[in-house]
Amino acid sequence: MFLNILYILLGIFVTFLILHTIIRVVRYFYKFPIPQSLVKFIDNPLRRRIQPPYETAIRHGIESGMRVLDVGPGNGTYTLGAAEHLGSEGQLIAIDIEPKIIERLQEKIETEGIMNVEARVADAYELPFDDSGFDLIYMITVINEIPDIPRALKEFHRVLKPSGKLVFSELLLDPDYPLAGKLTQKVQSANFHLLEKIGNFFYYTLIFEKSGE
Ligand SMILES: C[S@@+](CC[C@H](N)C(=O)[O-])C[C@H]1O[C@@H](n2cnc3c(N)ncnc32)[C@H](O)[C@@H]1O
Repeated sequence: MFLNILYILLGIFVTFLILHTIIRVVRYFYKFPIPQSLVKFIDNPLRRRIQPPYETAIRHGIESGMRVLDVGPGNGTYTLGAAEHLGSEGQLIAIDIEPKIIERLQEKIETEGIMNVEARVADAYELPFDDSGFDLIYMITVINEIPDIPRALKEFHRVLKPSGKLVFSELLLDPDYPLAGKLTQKVQSANFHLLEKIGNFFYYTLIFEKSGE
């Protein structure tokens, strides 16, 4: 009996590993946004245990009164977690390239009567915002879905205030997971410097500060 359970668990683990590896290889060559129909699957109880929405916002350094940009909100769970910290003086704008995602987030915002969040369809390559308007930009398991990362980083740099923060959270379970070292190199090449690394190989957060103009 015990051996059978062990075999089943091993089977599940190996199947997951094979699927994960295949998806990783495909995604290495073909980068595109996650199909919106799959977004609800990445928001699940296991993930919320590893990356609790409210605590993730604290980890990101989100504080009352800030103007914050959430790139790629997906199901919006982390967006609403972040909004709780901003208070009525703060503002969170969530942008996503996928209109359906923004439509669903907008419905949530209206249903829950949230006043400090705005949802807009936009591409990370062309942010519909003036220069130097955000205190902080964050994205969770998003950056490696963007084919031209330096181009997006240039936009993040443009819309951040001087000394504004750029924050990435990543999870190994995501087939697009980037190694922290490689991501750090790319971001530092775009005129940011690393302030803090939190977490471990399985789950990490990198906090960068905008440097220079
Ligand atoms: C893997 S999901 C992550 C969702 C959410 N941040 C989370 O962690 O649950 C990636 C999100 O990034 C969005 N995305 C991908 N490329 C984008 C781009 N170029 N500009 C804006 N959003 C993009 C996708 O549509 C999707 O909502």
